[in-house]
Amino acid sequence: MPILRVHAKQGHVDTETTDALVLLLCEGEGLPKEDGAILDRALGGALRDLLQSQEFDGKAGEVVVFHTHGKIPAKRLILVGLGKKHDLGLDQIRQAMGHAVKRVRQAKSGAFAVALPSSVPHGASPIDVGQTMTEGAILGSYQFTTYRSDTPTGKGVTAMTVLAPQKDHLRQLSEGIRRGVATAEATVYVRDLCNHPSNVMTPTRIASEAKTVAKEVGVNLKILEQKEMEQLGMGALLGVAKGSHEPPKFIILQYHGAKNKNDRPVVLVGKTITFDTGGISLKPAENMEQMKADMTGGAEVLAAMRAAARLKLPLNLISILPAAENMPGGRAMRPGDVVKTLSGKTVEVQNTDAEGRLILSDGLTYATRFKPAALIDIATLTGACVVALGQFAIGMFGTDATLKDAVHKAGLRAGERVWEMPLWDEYFEQLRSDVADMRNIGGRGGGMITAALFLSKFVGDAPWVHLDIASTDWSERERAYIPKGPTGIGTRLLIQFLINRSL
Ligand code: BES
Ligand code: MN
Ligand code: ZN
Repeated sequence: MPILRVHAKQGHVDTETTDALVLLLCEGEGLPKEDGAILDRALGGALRDLLQSQEFDGKAGEVVVFHTHGKIPAKRLILVGLGKKHDLGLDQIRQAMGHAVKRVRQAKSGAFAVALPSSVPHGASPIDVGQTMTEGAILGSYQFTTYRSDTPTGKGVTAMTVLAPQKDHLRQLSEGIRRGVATAEATVYVRDLCNHPSNVMTPTRIASEAKTVAKEVGVNLKILEQKEMEQLGMGALLGVAKGSHEPPKFIILQYHGAKNKNDRPVVLVGKTITFDTGGISLKPAENMEQMKADMTGGAEVLAAMRAAARLKLPLNLISILPAAENMPGGRAMRPGDVVKTLSGKTVEVQNTDAEGRLILSDGLTYATRFKPAALIDIATLTGACVVALGQFAIGMFGTDATLKDAVHKAGLRAGERVWEMPLWDEYFEQLRSDVADMRNIGGRGGGMITAALFLSKFVGDAPWVHLDIASTDWSERERAYIPKGPTGIGTRLLIQFLINRSL
């Protein structure tokens, strides 16, 4: 499904010719300041009547449509609530645009116009507003129809025009749209990769996606095959891959955007398990199909690479995807097996379902070669994350206060919030093994913490942040701009982090 095209232009709500005109209104705010009165007059007082009757009062998620019968050039007017002005943040704008675009689609309109909201969040620039309006609209109109013979909601919405009453904000608004298209397009790409079933989205297919990305945006690509991984000694990743007929791939993409080619890079590592059965420590059948999205982290670092290169961000960036499928089988790892990681440390694999930390240990060790200025891994790592944080927070761990702060800020800005968890060494006693340097599970308590602590043993002295996106990577229900199923959450956080670092 093609992505919604977005552009800005100078224009007025009472003169714009369009299938549908969207107005975003705060609760109890009355008519929009700028053109509200003119518009209301043109409509013979219909707007004022509607607001006074309190059939629509601008609550978050509220939507009203009416036909204009030629009184203004726009065929339909769609009012969308932003909620209380007091609570207005950038995410309320994203959500309102998500609701708006779905209503436009329902009206079978292919294109629509939207006026800049007359109230904006405190401190938000036209760049911010343009970016979030774009994100909400593109992400809200997302559908994955590749494997369906019917297209349930028709062709979909293909174009959006953002109307700015004055010319002076147009430049900033267009820059915001450019960023919003980049972050939303990246998220859409991640959702697509995660939606494809695992018989299609194999490690080999991920590698070919990386080839396509590298070629398109002109970044370096290196793919290590099984033989090379053996030579290097990536025993943890190879151990996980052993049960599967799908060969593992170790994918490295490199972008030099900094003026100085030798600037220390940001290195992103994403868990790329194309399907997680649990291996010999087999998972229960219920909801196992969701484990096709266990490659979300990898898809996100690939998408972030593509976005950074497209935006020509002035920094050096490396994305690493250790990719494998976790299957049971005659050659699969057994519980109790000991593997030797790339770092030289040995691990007793007490549970083959704790495979994410195994492939990431080799991914992180490899990452330290590049002497990262910042090292971030992102992974659908633990069921314990689902238990501890539920659907609305990403678990964050880290060794560096400045980096944690930057990730936290990027998360707030992106509407993909992180919550810090402790990385205290006391918990390491849970990872002790009688036969190896450590074991890959930490027993009952603090499962998200012991997993993070395991990873911390492989990052050397790099400033490091780990993000656990299990529970946020998949949504049980459709929301304003989040679909049911794979959400792509984390993608916009990563890109925002890179944008902020480039400013
Ligand atoms: N991919 C799963 C974690 C997961 C669970 C992601 C639910 C999304 C939703 C991971 O590989 C896993 O199986 N973790 C185990 C670890 C345990 C065996 C220590 C878990 O959390 O159950
Ligand atoms: Mn697992
Ligand atoms: Zn997994």
